[in-house]
Amino acid sequence: MLLAILLHVSRVYLTGGLKKPRELTWVSGSLLAFLALSFGVSGYSLPWDEIGFWALQVVSAVPETTDDFLPGVGSSIVCPIRGGFSIGQETLNRAFTAHTLTLPAGAAIVSLLHFLLIRKQSVSGPLWRCWVQYCRSVSGPLWRCWRCHGISSLCREKSKNPKSFS
Ligand code: HEM
Repeated sequence: MLLAILLHVSRVYLTGGLKKPRELTWVSGSLLAFLALSFGVSGYSLPWDEIGFWALQVVSAVPETTDDFLPGVGSSIVCPIRGGFSIGQETLNRAFTAHTLTLPAGAAIVSLLHFLLIRKQSVSGPLWRCWVQYCRSVSGPLWRCWRCHGISSLCREKSKNPKSFS
């Protein structure tokens, strides 16, 4: 899953698919990536063995770092995550609920948003065609137009002014 996300994000980034007007798609995608990581962390702890226990201990302590510059804020995030000051039975209950209920519900909602946005704005365009057509229409070396333009912006330009690409 993480590998698929990595490949997808690389594709979107390299083709400029995150540029205007698709910023919100990028933000919803980032939320999906966060949810995917949270699935991993909560699921890893469910066997409740030593590795899972310590993983939860370390991960749930991460928000505590904010206490350095905002005293009290980190602990007020950590306690609800753990269901107390330390890791225990209640933490396991929370990890189970997160893994089987909260995260799937969150992932369903955010995926819906991601897909609705994609349907509304459509995918930014065929990968190579627009780029090649654009590069044929401008002078200069190929690598220079790759550096200046994502493919999506080229496709937008093409749809605005198709004659300049013929
Ligand atoms: C569970 C994770 C994800 C799923 C199932 C998913 C699914 C999709 C699908 C099916 C598309 C349309 C086809 C395509 O462009 O490949 C798409 C487009 C897009 N995704 Fe995701 N995505 C996920 C995660 C992410 C992440 C982590 C990001 C960025 C941080 C992201 C940003 C985008 C953007 C900006 C587009 C529009 C690209 C364009 O129009 O060229 N997605 N996503």
